[in-house]
Amino acid sequence: MFKKAMIGAVAAAAIFSTTAAWAAEYTLRLSHGDNEANPTHKGAVKFQELVNEYTNGRVQVQIYPANQLGSEEEVAQSVRMGSIETEILYTGNLVPLAPSAGVMMLPYAFTTSQQAWAAMDALQEPLNERLVKEAGVRVLGYFEKGFRVLTTSRKPVETLEDLKGLKIRVSPNKIAIDTFKAWGIDPIPMAWSEVFPALQQRVIDGQENPYTTSISSKFYEVQNYITEIHYMIWSGPLIISERVYQRLPADIQEALNRAGREAADYQRQVAYEETEAAKKELVERGMTLVGPPKDEEKWQEAARALWPSFYDSIGGREWAEQAQKIMEEAIQSGG
Ligand code: MLT
Repeated sequence: MFKKAMIGAVAAAAIFSTTAAWAAEYTLRLSHGDNEANPTHKGAVKFQELVNEYTNGRVQVQIYPANQLGSEEEVAQSVRMGSIETEILYTGNLVPLAPSAGVMMLPYAFTTSQQAWAAMDALQEPLNERLVKEAGVRVLGYFEKGFRVLTTSRKPVETLEDLKGLKIRVSPNKIAIDTFKAWGIDPIPMAWSEVFPALQQRVIDGQENPYTTSISSKFYEVQNYITEIHYMIWSGPLIISERVYQRLPADIQEALNRAGREAADYQRQVAYEETEAAKKELVERGMTLVGPPKDEEKWQEAARALWPSFYDSIGGREWAEQAQKIMEEAIQSGG
């Protein structure tokens, strides 16, 4: 994080402005799993700019997109240790390390992105108290990319029955796995970095991620149909290592908190606007938008019935209920 470590990083990567690098007092590497066309990256760039502005150039953020520093799960471990300073990752990929973050993933908890934004903002501080203890990380802001939708290659999925026989990749976390099991199939948990080649080689038939991801990851080249299963939002905390955070002066901490929140607001808006454009482009590129499943209530019923069975894996019943109350109140008062 500090200048010495940074010098090695710049020499190795040779992709950053050395002028800025030498001037900065602190350097934070920021890893994420998406490529530069994705709203995650645009939010990362906004964070970089705001940190520079609010710290008068004392802190430089170096962005490493597309899993350059490792898979989302691997980098989260490094952030815990403080050997990588910051990361933006899908909540589902943080949950194995930080179970309490899973409250954002209860299926069908939200019907709009705006509800999710209100819930995420209200949860951030109570959740931080837990994440610092569970995983040695703290959230600076919550990114969001819209609802996860199902893409498939072999056939369109219009009903639960259509899912049968399909090999669907999910992010390796209990909530996604059990939800697909309740829908009648054994999903395939797999690291995000392996998904495109697995789709291409037909090791899997489908996956679920937001519309914008199908554009930035070029899933339209290997997938044909999209079903709007709308069961879970892509929420992605921008996390910082607590070890790193506690070594920073208070004014820098304050600047990072402000930059994190504002970058998240910006990124959510970008993702929201890009989602409609993504749908149009995916059709132009030959994909068929199936819409919501015809028997959507069956999907919802099966998934909602699982909520109590998730509580132990997301920090316990007491926290799950407390978090639900915080989220519901936030939604009612603004979402
Ligand atoms: C996943 O499916 O693993 C994530 O949603 C990928 C991402 O972080 O965009």
